[in-house]
Amino acid sequence: MPNLKNLRREIRESHLADDAQLLSRLREGAQFPAPMRARAVERAVGYVKAIRASASPGLMEVFLAQYGLSTDEGVALMCLAEALLRVPDSPTVDALIEDKIAPSEWNRHLGRSSSSLVNASTWALMLTGKVLREDAQGLAATLKGALKRVGEPVIRAAVGRAMKEMGRQFVLGQDMEEAIRRGESAARKGFTFSYDMLGEAAMTAADAVRNFEAYRASIEALGPHCSSADIRENPGISIKLSAIHPRYEEPQRARVLSELVPRVRELALMAARRNMGLNIDAEEAERLELSLDVIETVLETQDLAGWDGFGIVVQAYSKRAPAVIDWLHELAQRHDRRLMVRLVKGAYWDSEIKAAQVKGLPGFPVFQRKQATDVSYLACAQKLLRAKERLYPQFATHNAHTVASILEMEPDHRAFEFQRLHGMGEALHDLVLEQEGTRCRIYAPVGTHRDLLAYLVRRLLENGANSSFVNQIVSKEVEAEEICADPFLALDAFAGPDNPAIRPPGQVFEPARGNSHGFDLHDPGCLARIEAARAPFLARTWEAGPLTVHPPRGGATEAVENPADPADAPGQVRLASAEDVERALEAACAWDAPASERASVLQRAAALYEK
Ligand code: FAD
Ligand code: 2OP
Repeated sequence: MPNLKNLRREIRESHLADDAQLLSRLREGAQFPAPMRARAVERAVGYVKAIRASASPGLMEVFLAQYGLSTDEGVALMCLAEALLRVPDSPTVDALIEDKIAPSEWNRHLGRSSSSLVNASTWALMLTGKVLREDAQGLAATLKGALKRVGEPVIRAAVGRAMKEMGRQFVLGQDMEEAIRRGESAARKGFTFSYDMLGEAAMTAADAVRNFEAYRASIEALGPHCSSADIRENPGISIKLSAIHPRYEEPQRARVLSELVPRVRELALMAARRNMGLNIDAEEAERLELSLDVIETVLETQDLAGWDGFGIVVQAYSKRAPAVIDWLHELAQRHDRRLMVRLVKGAYWDSEIKAAQVKGLPGFPVFQRKQATDVSYLACAQKLLRAKERLYPQFATHNAHTVASILEMEPDHRAFEFQRLHGMGEALHDLVLEQEGTRCRIYAPVGTHRDLLAYLVRRLLENGANSSFVNQIVSKEVEAEEICADPFLALDAFAGPDNPAIRPPGQVFEPARGNSHGFDLHDPGCLARIEAARAPFLARTWEAGPLTVHPPRGGATEAVENPADPADAPGQVRLASAEDVERALEAACAWDAPASERASVLQRAAALYEK
């Protein structure tokens, strides 16, 4: 019998689980008969062909198709986009531009794009690179130097402008008023919106308060636009918990529950009074457990009874996704509510993989193959549809195959809604809204450049990756049938779901050495194990003293205080005497063993420390 506690245990146990085991469990629980999958592929191929035939892709899409992340130039532009707008002074801006633009081979891209604007940009980048390169000699070098000096302010302004344009692609407005105005034409077509005030990972209490106030103001601004009795037809707001607390992290659990919960509760009550949806975005994997506690506590608020607008995002790339959906279902039953669940694939994949490697975790919190995430998404979608009396499914995706599969799974096309990000997937969503009469919502970031960077980088990674749907649909060399391939079959074609291109965390430094064994300080289970293991040591009184070749005589003895807790006296230290120091210096000698021997001694010492 599932209950919230057992389901939380299941969530915890699947955190770093084996990809193969999880996938086979997912596939056992789901029902995707081959004919249904074939129909989904056929439908998706139709969408891709229709989109390619009718809609011309946006400038950003063709730009990223040419300068994707699989080229050095694409990576150089990505670095510029990430850093340029937050560099405060002109000399550093110039140095950064020179560093990123001069060494790349822009001429490789000349005339390669179907867009004349992209080709013109390639020309500009190539010429800029030539001007900035220091490889000329003699008179040519002098001329180049002069041109460079004159040109720098122009280049700086142009590159800065291009980066701002890039941001505009993904942001609906600098403030709510502009965003609502810019969204009007889509609203007339039947689209609804979930507004997101840019700003996340607050570093200071002041930032957190500023972001909280921005959320409050946007709920107030949207109030008058919530005119429908059906909450699904009203605009909503998406919030990030990291935006409204500077220490939203597991080791600060007590503070988070006492300080963050009241803020979320206040925003939820404001939204509920206006019959508006309020959605909690999913962020890094290490924040998941804590977010579930915040959600559970806020949902206990009596005054929220009867409001069906509380929304939670579930990331299908996460190994915990199916268990989280079961937990949400149980929570909705317990409170006799309906929750909104936005299913996404997940926007932090690259950083999750890297973080697990850096920390030396025993596994990855996300799947290693794109097709595994696609399969997980469909299995989770089916779970949501089965629970639709309690969970309102919101399928956020720009992928035609994913959209087509959901349409094949659920005959009632008004029983859920599709969602897309502003600046992405327009043509597909226009098509299903018109042809299938589905509900469609647009996630609409609002804010200024200073708060855009983290969001922009995620969008550039997503659009620039050659495995992503939005990147492939623009590149005409990829056949529609290939883009819409059945992920179940594609997954079966691999030797296994582990990706040999991704090194397991323990092996990232091999063959030179093994990685250190990591402790996940955001995992409550790991924290509890550390607490239990260190308890006996904390109870001990420690005696420290010099470690020298000759037995030390010893000097004065001092009590040691714990700088983090004045009430704690861990023990005392016996200092070395001046004579001990002299004798130690006399006994010291160079360690002149061969390097390989020294290396293996150090390795052995490291292994013993870890043990
Ligand atoms: P596809 O191209 O089909 O899928 C791309 C995705 O596949 C990647 O983003 C990644 O998740 C996954 N992937 C790529 N490579 C691999 C690999 N090697 N192994 C495993 N998986 C891989 N994201 C969040 O994290 N939190 C949110 O709160 C959130 N809110 C969103 C709200 C809306 C309305 C929308 C539309 C998106 C939101 N996203 C959020 C972003 C979302 O995660 C991405 O847009 C989504 O992953 C893109 O998936 P797709 O189906 O459009 O594209
Ligand atoms: C992100 O911020 C859309 O929530 C998603 O990347």
